[in-house]
Amino acid sequence: MRYHALGAVPSKRHVQVRRDGAASPLLVEEVLGYEGFSGNESILYHVHSPCRLEEVGSFTPIEREEWVPDAHVHRLADTKPVAPGGDPVSGRRLLMWNGDVEVSVCKPTEPLDGFFRDGDGDEVIYVHRGGGVLRTVFGRVPFRQHDYVVIPRGTTHAFELDPDVEQTWLCFHTPGEIETPNRYRNRYGQLLEHAPFSQRDFHPPDELETFDERGEYHVTVRVRGGLQRYVLDRHPFDVVGWDGYVWPCTFNADDFEPRAGRFHLPPPAHQTFQGPNFVICTFAPRMLDWDPQAVPLPYHHSNIQSEEVMFYAEGDYAARKGVDVGCLTLHPSGLPHGPQPGTVERALGAKSTNELAVMWDTFRPLRLSTLWREIDDPAYAFSWNEDKQPAG
Ligand SMILES: [Fe+2]
Repeated sequence: MRYHALGAVPSKRHVQVRRDGAASPLLVEEVLGYEGFSGNESILYHVHSPCRLEEVGSFTPIEREEWVPDAHVHRLADTKPVAPGGDPVSGRRLLMWNGDVEVSVCKPTEPLDGFFRDGDGDEVIYVHRGGGVLRTVFGRVPFRQHDYVVIPRGTTHAFELDPDVEQTWLCFHTPGEIETPNRYRNRYGQLLEHAPFSQRDFHPPDELETFDERGEYHVTVRVRGGLQRYVLDRHPFDVVGWDGYVWPCTFNADDFEPRAGRFHLPPPAHQTFQGPNFVICTFAPRMLDWDPQAVPLPYHHSNIQSEEVMFYAEGDYAARKGVDVGCLTLHPSGLPHGPQPGTVERALGAKSTNELAVMWDTFRPLRLSTLWREIDDPAYAFSWNEDKQPAG
């Protein structure tokens, strides 16, 4: 991210600073940063100490229910039948995970009970459907359909859901950092001219909310693989100003500037974020490969080191048959995959595609949850064999 500031910050760091002149108490400076004072950081100025506790509540370990399938095959699942419910944290239904990333589908219908902070990792929420405001200690971050909402670890937040739209989100949690790809940035960190987005496409909090209020405030912190609850007697959003390089933001998939070539470009052309041993890509509506002899669909490939997961977000995905908006495919390592029979011939000569898809590739094997078992379509593994397809 780039440098950003909101509210009042003093001209120097680590100095005496007061909200309303000499008679008012000192503000409390908090440095919130990665890699032990060597990574990116922001500095926040609180009215009261952010350490202040009223009560320590329960610790609940996060239990993952794993499905170990009988066979290693390509898989298709449909998120549409997953029932809505719960709040933006408890409503997350785990789909898959490994040591680098965990992905859930969430269709929240209720506001969060209090505030949440992920102390175990960074989060990205892809808003397939929905909208609202992510309220954070850094300020208000409005979000809408097709946004990636990036929430750095340590960001105390709550969600205000737009009551007029249903919400369907994909939630990514990583113990690492969510970043824009290194190869899009120059040595100073600025996004390069050839990157498919610029700093202007990342939207920081637009308004700081400062509450100097007493009350009973419940905060749940994800930490050490569980959820620790606390009660505070002061509103956690008591920041009067902050600045730095760490802040929550949104990036809208419709702002991804797609790349195309005379011949087919591979998925790294669509990369949007990087994490440890995984990437997140956006396949945006785009012009297709323009050579008269070009094959505008992906070639068959064996990513012998990757698991490829694709979420079909909008439009028609020409390389797949029987795959609808809201579906997921998992093409695991060890197996080749490519367009289904007949799709290449049908696509020849196409000038553009209206598909929007979100893909994540992990470089270490994924484990599947029991939710995937519920929504799995076992016929997909045979979809490359015309002899196994229903007539018509
Ligand atoms: Fe692929």
